[in-house]
Amino acid sequence: MLFRDRRPSLQGHVAFACLSPRPAGTRAVGFSLAWHAGTVSTKVLLGVSGGIAAYKAAELVRRLREQGAEVRIVMTAAAQSFITPLTLQALSGNEVRTDLLDPGAEAGMDHIELARWADLVLVAPATADLMARLAAGLADDLLTTLVLATTAPIALAPAMNHRMWLHPATQENLARLRGRGVRILGPAEGDQACGERGPGRMLEPSEILDAIALRSGSQLKGRRVIVTAGPTREALDPVRYIGNRSSGRMGYALARSLAARGADLALVSGPSALTPPSGVDLVRVESALEMETAVMERIADCDIFVAAAAVADYRPEEPAQKKIKKSHAELSLRLVKNPDILAQVASLAQRPFTVGFAAETQDLEEQALKKLKTKGLDMIAANLVGGDTGGFERTENALLILWPGGRRSLPLGPKSRLADDLTDLILERYLAHPPSQNP
Ligand code: PMT
Repeated sequence: MLFRDRRPSLQGHVAFACLSPRPAGTRAVGFSLAWHAGTVSTKVLLGVSGGIAAYKAAELVRRLREQGAEVRIVMTAAAQSFITPLTLQALSGNEVRTDLLDPGAEAGMDHIELARWADLVLVAPATADLMARLAAGLADDLLTTLVLATTAPIALAPAMNHRMWLHPATQENLARLRGRGVRILGPAEGDQACGERGPGRMLEPSEILDAIALRSGSQLKGRRVIVTAGPTREALDPVRYIGNRSSGRMGYALARSLAARGADLALVSGPSALTPPSGVDLVRVESALEMETAVMERIADCDIFVAAAAVADYRPEEPAQKKIKKSHAELSLRLVKNPDILAQVASLAQRPFTVGFAAETQDLEEQALKKLKTKGLDMIAANLVGGDTGGFERTENALLILWPGGRRSLPLGPKSRLADDLTDLILERYLAHPPSQNP
């Protein structure tokens, strides 16, 4: 074990590098956070412009504050049609600024002072219009004026219709902003508020936080972590398989969260449509046997193993070589048991800190406790599946976390948030109780 203290000192820096020639007036090393034993003395100036994604600013402010950042907010006029300044004021604990010429505010923090105050200017969402105004160097409202006046690093999280994003005008503006060292976070691809699909969705708040913190030195720096995620597919013939409803969301969210703490992370994933978090080593597999091989090949120097995948317990004994024809009135399948990857890892002589999941339709705690004990795990995260609030496929989940002698309930919430909370617990237990070696 390298970590002796329960809470190691978090001395580190976030390198938020300007990759292109630095324009006059911007800082040499960019965004740099000083972490001291969990306290982040970071001043984030959050700009909110007018798009439907502005509602996500509320969660973003909450998350930033959870990480210890001090947050001040500037909203454009259009942003106020989507979310009220009062909401963001309540969440940030600071008065929200909306006007360039605000006599009340001038007595307190004027726009130049605010521009100087920030360690980081983060604009989320950044609309096409805002990006165009920033690219042109306009200073026609408080937010654009601040961006011109600040010497702090600037990050934008774009959000707009995919056609607007792909329009040559927006792409030219993007190139100009990038050329000045502005960091662009996202956008993500997927369903849009307008009912269309494509690139232009604002990153989730947790992804924005990861993007600005991913390079930080942190608790898991130098630690090797393996996360399994998604379903497995057990072939019946060359075109059919036995599968399950896992989307991979829970496992991918955990991988993102653990990687954000500095882990060297391998994500062993069954088939999933999700985009893997940046900075992780994605190993794609299909069947339980392939997943077993991928995990066991990497387990030797693994410090933490988290099994979030929904691995098929059984597989067809002999998959047909050719497509099965419907010539028989009945068809019987003979299934054989798959290896239990989690139990195998937990029983290794030199084993990592081992975290399992339990997917149950009833008797959640009782079943999970049984798995914790029989498999000899360090921790288990139990969730109900199959019902209205079940853990499969959805973006939300609820978890009951058990470990020898302890338990914690994580109520229904976004999987990204549960992943962060579970990661905190894993870290706490891992640092305090390194895995005992099997005889
Ligand atoms: O992917 P999502 O749509 O986000 O859904 C998330 C989830 C419901 C899949 C996830 O939260 C979850 O519960 N994953 C574990 C599902 C499961 O297979 O549970 P289980 O109780 O059958 O298995 C117990 C544990 O043993 C799990 O950690 C599983 O990964 C592991 N296992 C099971 C069988 C096997 N052959 N090998 C294993 O490693």
